[in-house]
Amino acid sequence: MCGIVGYIGPRDAYAVLINGLKRLEYRGYDSAGIALVNSKTRIYKCRGKVSDLEKYITGNDVSGNIGMGHTRWATHGEPNDINAHPHKSFHGKFVLIHNGIIENYARLKETLSETGIKFQSETDSEVLVNLIEHIYEQGNTSAEIAVRLALSKVIGAYGLVIACIDEPDKLIAARKGSPLVIGVGNNEYFLASDATPIIEYTKSVIYLNDDDVAIISKEGLVLKTLKNDPQTPRIHQLDLGIGEIDKGGYKHFMLKEIFEQPRSILDTFRGRVGADFNELHLGGLYNVIDRLVKARRIIIIGCGTSWHAGLVGEYLFEDLARISVEVEYASEFRYRHPIIEPDDVVIAISQSGETADTLAAVKLAKECGALVLGICNVVGSSIPRETDAGVYTHAGPEIGVASTKAFTAQVTVLAMMAILIGRKNNTLTDVQYRSYIKSLTEVPGKIEQILAQDDKYKNIASLYKLANNFLYLGRGYLFPVALEGALKLKEISYIHAEGYPAAEMKHGPIALIDHKMPVVVLATKDSSYEKIISNIQEVKARNGIVIAVVNEGETTIKNMADHVLEIPVTDNIFSPLLAVIPLQLVSYHIAVMRGCNVDQPRNLAKSVTVE
Ligand code: G6P
Repeated sequence: MCGIVGYIGPRDAYAVLINGLKRLEYRGYDSAGIALVNSKTRIYKCRGKVSDLEKYITGNDVSGNIGMGHTRWATHGEPNDINAHPHKSFHGKFVLIHNGIIENYARLKETLSETGIKFQSETDSEVLVNLIEHIYEQGNTSAEIAVRLALSKVIGAYGLVIACIDEPDKLIAARKGSPLVIGVGNNEYFLASDATPIIEYTKSVIYLNDDDVAIISKEGLVLKTLKNDPQTPRIHQLDLGIGEIDKGGYKHFMLKEIFEQPRSILDTFRGRVGADFNELHLGGLYNVIDRLVKARRIIIIGCGTSWHAGLVGEYLFEDLARISVEVEYASEFRYRHPIIEPDDVVIAISQSGETADTLAAVKLAKECGALVLGICNVVGSSIPRETDAGVYTHAGPEIGVASTKAFTAQVTVLAMMAILIGRKNNTLTDVQYRSYIKSLTEVPGKIEQILAQDDKYKNIASLYKLANNFLYLGRGYLFPVALEGALKLKEISYIHAEGYPAAEMKHGPIALIDHKMPVVVLATKDSSYEKIISNIQEVKARNGIVIAVVNEGETTIKNMADHVLEIPVTDNIFSPLLAVIPLQLVSYHIAVMRGCNVDQPRNLAKSVTVE
């Protein structure tokens, strides 16, 4: 969690840092701070958002060409001015920003306190900066050596930037478990948790690996490991435009990202679908396809929305490729001693590619000898670098904390994989294979038609914005969509919502239904259509309010439900890609009407890089 940014070069560092923090604010937004580093280092930090920090700083001296900034999502210590980063060491020699968790901080703090060091904050990060200073002073050594020695004593995760006032022309950066990217410009360097703050200055970046330490001055960059082994920096070119990380005229990133879905799914297809629908190319799987086709079992792991996409994947792989699938929360999977065999394939799904539990589960699966694949959105992030192979979703940067376009891109990749494997293992005939590919490529156009009905979603939102509870029901492929619809609503509007398999309603949730309970029923035509009609009747018989998502032209449900939201007909297996769109928009409008901060919902963060 937390966003970190650093700069060293000829520019006004403050402008780079404050802009960078705005780009990274989705990672955490309970407090923020900046340090301008030189012989007279200044630290400004306060509780609140980056805009509060800007106001707080107004009128102060922000001159300088070297600095660091941080936007926080609290782990140790409540959000307040003192716990905000940057943190200064007790004798004032070091200033540090940190993303991650120092797990052995309590023991380290105790030992450091015994030497007379007094702590200002409740954070683990302040312990780290003091450990570095302590080693520096005791060992009479250089800042770099002190940083490396201190980090070798630390258990936990960090992406950090640190400056020493005795060496004020330098920044030292290090990574273990939390992402860190270095942008390489002309005699200047940018540091950030992801590439979004860097893209407007340079497209050349270096992704730090775990245990890397970078020592950066205006003259150049030295990369080494914690153990002092020199590393050759590998420069990658970013394939990202500045337009992709702006709101593009929309009121919120989330709205922009919902409306981007026809294009983002086309980007997921790009270069992967043969011109006459006779082929799918997933280049990232090229070297592992035989192992994948022969998989005894597929285990899909993820968190949050990515886990919901994984549930859709379960139906897809079982239907189209007849491979048995288990879908697991990464956080549960990694701690419950799972049985993983070498002929299992583990697929990790993650928008950010940085979720701590998913990353740890990937490492565990690799140790057990399984083939481990990634479906990630952020190119160069930790999970794709850790996995054996994978498929990028290429949905473009997702900034809104509530995931939307990443979900549809993940489901699109899973559908492509299932179709491809199904053909390769002869579960699908060539005719079915082509027909599914063609039908999948028609999804973006159908999403356009759904988006064009936004006024209807606004109307539903205005009618039910004051509800205290919502229930979402779906069967088969639409059960995961019911979960995702409920998650979207609670994440951004703080209305309690539950997703349920429609048939399970009778085993509990039906007790909650009364005239105040909106029930969103996903009721497109498939083999369980008749059964879902019965579920609607059960809700109506108890005076519940039914908002049904149905296929265009359907009449039976129209006569029963209080409201119907129509979506185009598609192959049932692709119905999640369409049915989720009205749910995203209804949640969005309800949140806006309730005055909630849609892009930065309370207590949440875009990327959970702590356990
Ligand atoms: C956080 C985000 C969710 C996201 C989940 C998993 O909770 O707020 O939107 O679905 O993490 O993130 P990942 O990057 O692994 O998909």
